[in-house]
Amino acid sequence: MVLDGQSSQSIALAAQAVQRGDLIGLPTETVYGLAADACNTQAVAKIFSIKGRPSDHPLIVHVTDIDSAERFASEIPDFAKRLIDAFWPGPLTLILPRIANVATNAAGGQNSVGIRCPSHPIARQILLAAQDVGVWGLAAPSANKFGRISPTTAAHVREEFGDAFLIVDGGACDVGIESAIVDCTRGQPVLLRPGVLTLEQLSSACGERVLLEGEILTKALSAPKASGTLAAHYAPFAKLFLMNKQEMEQKLAQRKEGFPIGIWSMAPLNAQSQGPSDKKSGISWQEMPGDPVLCAHALFAQLRSFDSLGVKQIWVESPPSESAWEGVHDRLRRAETAGR
Ligand code: TXA
Ligand code: MG
Repeated sequence: MVLDGQSSQSIALAAQAVQRGDLIGLPTETVYGLAADACNTQAVAKIFSIKGRPSDHPLIVHVTDIDSAERFASEIPDFAKRLIDAFWPGPLTLILPRIANVATNAAGGQNSVGIRCPSHPIARQILLAAQDVGVWGLAAPSANKFGRISPTTAAHVREEFGDAFLIVDGGACDVGIESAIVDCTRGQPVLLRPGVLTLEQLSSACGERVLLEGEILTKALSAPKASGTLAAHYAPFAKLFLMNKQEMEQKLAQRKEGFPIGIWSMAPLNAQSQGPSDKKSGISWQEMPGDPVLCAHALFAQLRSFDSLGVKQIWVESPPSESAWEGVHDRLRRAETAGR
């Protein structure tokens, strides 16, 4: 059932559900989450099983503030505190050392825990109402089957899971791609997953350069047991190809007439004489926003929309290489790898 997130009754029902050990779908500013009490082992097990997610793949714990974060994290280094000051509540997850025997299953057995404080007003209301009934953190991965496209509307969540749990509707997610993840357990900040916050923004807020995984060469800073990300993820049903405009033009000229494709590019292609969408030719063209924030916002919904048209391939124009595009680029690269 989908509940209206604007109603206080929905918030109360959602809090009761997590207190009982049930799952809920909840809106955040990034993507919709599939949430359960992070300290309830059985409830957390339901998340792994319904998503089809391996149980050693750690979940993010959502909290209201740094005080609640300290119920899960044994230590918050100063550079992490600066990141918290700058970006919480907001689309940033920190990997922190975990207090022993707290949220062990949610953390996939790691001795660290991923913690995020979302800014979506409805997520915050649910987290606060859950606290009132003794639930201090909600473990919540994105509310999609393992490997699939993350949901950015309540309807997407329902598409994935039907009526298996309550879904609180908070409208379309503002950001549209998942939070940036910074590992704070290795003495120096390391970016595990890019989001809409750029490396420059993160580095400037934390007062030191945030490193990329590839820059970690010393043994003392070796990677955590589970990497933050998988090479293949975010897969649409259609096969996705990333290419530049010229490659698209060439491929389009060689295409078999009628073969259904979705094209997402910043401007229409020359070879595409019939305009935006042409059922007869099998081409469905949509304009890709030229701004990285708008593009992130539209990305997952656009892939789902191409899938619902039944196209066989999705061609996406490679985004610019500037760091502001890294979050979008990362999701597209992994969607492309998933289809191989
Ligand atoms: O924006 C988001 O972060 C969304 C919304 C719902 O908050 N959540 C989300 O969760 O994207 P999920 O489960 O789809 O992605 C969690 C990522 C995984 O790639 C996981 O490996 C990493 O966070 N992660 C979580 N805890 C970790 C830990 N202790 N060590 C390393 N990676 C961790
Ligand atoms: Mg996910």
